[in-house]
Amino acid sequence: MVLTGAGISAESGIPTFRGPDGLWHGRRVEDVATAEAVYRDRWGVNEFFNERRNGIEGVKPNAAHEALVKLESKIGNNFILVTQNIDPLHEMAGSKNLIHMHGELFSIQCDNCNSTYFFQGDVKKETPCEKCGKTGSLRPDVVLFGEMPKMMDEILYALSNCDLFVAIGTSGVVYPAAGFVDVAGRYGAHTIEVNAADTERSYSFAERITGPASITVTELVDKIIGE
Ligand code: OAD
Repeated sequence: MVLTGAGISAESGIPTFRGPDGLWHGRRVEDVATAEAVYRDRWGVNEFFNERRNGIEGVKPNAAHEALVKLESKIGNNFILVTQNIDPLHEMAGSKNLIHMHGELFSIQCDNCNSTYFFQGDVKKETPCEKCGKTGSLRPDVVLFGEMPKMMDEILYALSNCDLFVAIGTSGVVYPAAGFVDVAGRYGAHTIEVNAADTERSYSFAERITGPASITVTELVDKIIGE
């Protein structure tokens, strides 16, 4: 089982949340992207995600995304990838058994009819829902602070049944993902952290690999599959 965070996409040119470019108009993501903010300032939230959507135009998967595809192609159904990232780089690289636990940037949700659908471009105040036609009810189909991540049943099942848990490029401060290492470890999995630097959760991992994801993930995958 592999968990990824913003660090795996950093070398593709997408800023991480807590890195030097991680602030939005000087505000922390925890203050902008909240469930409560959708009701207080829906357009501020949409604007934040409009900018994120525009900001990743033309980005491409890097060697780390590709290495995970190679791993999946070797071990097939025994592989599961859970990403906290809302960018589409894992699926662009070719990952199949993939859960976007924090939702997807190119998906939109309507609070009037509860539909979600593929969306490109900017959500504006006057943008109507493609399904019900209502305006003023769209929001990003992403998990905001104060909301439940998606597909937790499947994730907990995988955590309690995996023999290897690898966390790549995540700072380990946002729950529940930050606690996955403890669940996997408790059920007997070997745990590996791959990160450019030590994190607040490093102490929980049995093994740590430090360095840029494009190199370290490629080497780790080759080791796992015996190349
Ligand atoms: P963060 O921005 O908190 O952490 C990124 C991590 O990637 C840091 O630990 C960096 O050291 C590491 N990193 C940076 N460049 C790297 C590289 N080239 N190779 C390897 N590691 C590198 O991002 P996340 O942990 O993903 O949630 O953040 C978790 C959640 O917080 C996000 O999913 C998002 C955010 O708020 C929601 O929006 C709900």
